[in-house]
Amino acid sequence: MKPLVNKIVCIGAGYVGGPTMAVIADHCPDIDVTVLDLNAERIAAWNSEDLPVYEPGLAEVVSRARGRNLRFVGQAEGAAYVAAADAVFISVNTPTKTEGEGAGKASDLRYVESCARFIAAHATGHTIVIEKSTMPVRAADCVKSILASAGPGVTFDILSNPEFLAEGTAIRDLEQPDRVLIGGERPEPIAALAEIYRRWVPAERVLSTGLWSAELSKLVANAFLAQRVSSINSISALCEVTGADIEEVASVIGTDSRIGPKFLRASVGFGGSCFQKDLLSLIYISESYGLTEVSAYWQQVVDLNQWQKHRFADQIAAPIATDAGSLRGRRIAILGFAFKKDTNDVRETPAIDVCRRLLARGATLAVHDYKVTPDSVASEIGTQGVEVAATPEAALAGADGVAVLTEWSAYAKLDWARLAGMLKAGAVIHDGRNIVDAAAIRRAGLNLRSIGKGGQSNT
Ligand code: UDX
Ligand code: UDX
Repeated sequence: MKPLVNKIVCIGAGYVGGPTMAVIADHCPDIDVTVLDLNAERIAAWNSEDLPVYEPGLAEVVSRARGRNLRFVGQAEGAAYVAAADAVFISVNTPTKTEGEGAGKASDLRYVESCARFIAAHATGHTIVIEKSTMPVRAADCVKSILASAGPGVTFDILSNPEFLAEGTAIRDLEQPDRVLIGGERPEPIAALAEIYRRWVPAERVLSTGLWSAELSKLVANAFLAQRVSSINSISALCEVTGADIEEVASVIGTDSRIGPKFLRASVGFGGSCFQKDLLSLIYISESYGLTEVSAYWQQVVDLNQWQKHRFADQIAAPIATDAGSLRGRRIAILGFAFKKDTNDVRETPAIDVCRRLLARGATLAVHDYKVTPDSVASEIGTQGVEVAATPEAALAGADGVAVLTEWSAYAKLDWARLAGMLKAGAVIHDGRNIVDAAAIRRAGLNLRSIGKGGQSNT
């Protein structure tokens, strides 16, 4: 059967737009997929061997589809592609507003609005406009009102098709999603988009809802996930003072099928471009409807996360600070800067808050990460007092303290018997991810402090 959608455009070649369109193009060789972006450098990178997003498996998918039915093009040349498209995805960033009404909480929809204006200006005939970006509930109203400015005979359907992929596992999540969610107002466009996903996703996993439920479900899914991390992190503090072990507690509660085992890893705090932004958006929406108890409830998830990051930084400082609290002259090795393993993304990484807090007390930091570039580190925490190390060994050399902030698998295999002599005497290893080989560290005569583990000798 001929698909109802033959030509797709996606505006936004970021962490979501790029991988999602590559997977669609890979599975649907008969559908023409064009990804646009305002950022010419990013487009050039998508057209090179050095993709702008690091994701396991992504390069293979892109190399199969690019040049066949997948292309990456600057937005300036995008008008003709939009004119010819049956469906246009909007996958631009929706950051937290920094000024104006709702600053610090509400999502900034200016990029989405400018995409809607671009579509309105260039679309012809009937086009399905699909919100892929995470939007506040009822944002489609604003997209609709902009699209209404299009010329005569130009019509639209709007769908909300939020993306649930997690970074680091994007390709796996796109290939085998728990669900694909399509919200809309009319069955025909929902069916047209569902038909694309059904090429590789089992029909029962393609869910459809109303537009507002789809928009809200995305915010709520992220809020619930973030809440689980803050919940387990709150208990990690309790474990440390009572002598309980967070991994034991998590594994016990996780066997209850009503709770489940996933997303119960205590950590230095959650990061990433979504959790905090989406929580703040939910908080703002609740407040704007006068639901102050609801917003206060979700605010606590954000506050706990902030507290956990600061608590961790203060634990690193405690054994090496002067009586006045200064860390001047102290060198701290930071192992891992990405917000989680298997990604080069540093947006809202907990490393930012931890590092800034240590730098503010005068520490010198030696930062190592397997994928994050020195430029990314510099753009988040500057260069003053910060050295970027090419290897874990270079970061650890002469360190007074060590902080493990990202759970890169290679950190679990560090040879502490060999590394021990490189650290200053008495240096404590603070494991913010419970990833390092605790027995090997102790055998090497080093001090270890793991998140959520009570009864530690060096506390
Ligand atoms: C996505 C979602 O779309 C966002 O709403 C969600 O909350 C997080 O995930 P992401 O792909 O991670 O965003 O964002 P980013 O990597 O910043 O990519 C967005 C891209 O859109 C950038 O490359 C930017 O240059 C581009 N852009 C932005 C445009 O092409 N046009 C614009 O008008 C604005
Ligand atoms: C998240 C959602 O999982 C995804 O569905 C949505 O589309 C985008 O937001 P992402 O931010 O890429 O994905 O990563 P995720 O794996 O959810 O991790 C978020 C943060 O929580 C990371 O900093 C991670 O280290 C932390 N985390 C996660 C924990 O600290 N403990 C856990 O048990 C799980």
